[in-house]
Amino acid sequence: MHIDDALRARRSIRAFKPDPVPLALVRELLEAATLSPSGTNIQPWRVHVAAGEMRARLTAEVLAHRETDPADKISEFPRSSKRKEPYVGRMRTLGKAMYGLLEIPKGDPAANWRQWGRNYEFFDAPVGLIFTLDKDLDAMSFIDLGIFAQSLMLAASARGLGTCAQGAWNNFWSVTRRVMNIPEDEYIVFGMSLGWPDETAPVNSLVAEREPIDSFATFQGF
Ligand SMILES: Cc1cc2nc3c(=O)[nH]c(=O)nc-3n(C[C@H](O)[C@H](O)[C@H](O)COP(=O)(O)O)c2cc1C
Repeated sequence: MHIDDALRARRSIRAFKPDPVPLALVRELLEAATLSPSGTNIQPWRVHVAAGEMRARLTAEVLAHRETDPADKISEFPRSSKRKEPYVGRMRTLGKAMYGLLEIPKGDPAANWRQWGRNYEFFDAPVGLIFTLDKDLDAMSFIDLGIFAQSLMLAASARGLGTCAQGAWNNFWSVTRRVMNIPEDEYIVFGMSLGWPDETAPVNSLVAEREPIDSFATFQGF
């Protein structure tokens, strides 16, 4: 597969078939992702992979906690809670398109709550990955982790697998840490769903818009 085709093939998948993803295949994806670059080659990525009973328990415990403490959304590391333009507009465009496909009307808090909760079910994907980072590291390592995740997602989509990166797992991290026994010295940065895409689900037809190059790049000295 040409790399540009792999880039085009990857899209966030939010509905999966129940078919399992064998451990050997997950390992193959992680192996491919280790080819990612990292500053001074420190390879700071850490990944905690959940399937089967562990995945089910993680979902159950996070969803239960979310009902009792819905405001427990504070990240362990500094994050801005406010977004300005042009980011808010882009976020709303995505939300409108996605909720349209899911047939969730605007102003239906119960349906919104349920849909947000789907993140913690990994959208029914058989495998969930939790990406963490040593707390001693700095912002540069978050870049390394993101590059690693993209490599993994491309390797997955080249094999017909679907993924969805999920910042949602940055919330309720205390439960994830306890259930998966994640060391205290690691930040829980984000999660990822991994599985076989349900091609019949309308939400998987979502194509998130992209801004033109000239909105973010400047060219000098050409
Ligand atoms: C770091 C990160 C966090 C994300 N968090 C979520 C999430 O919590 N839930 C979700 O449904 N999608 C999440 N996404 C997916 C984005 O919404 C998606 O990448 C974006 O809309 C572009 O669409 P595409 O991935 O289909 O190209 C996340 C993506 C990234 C890179």
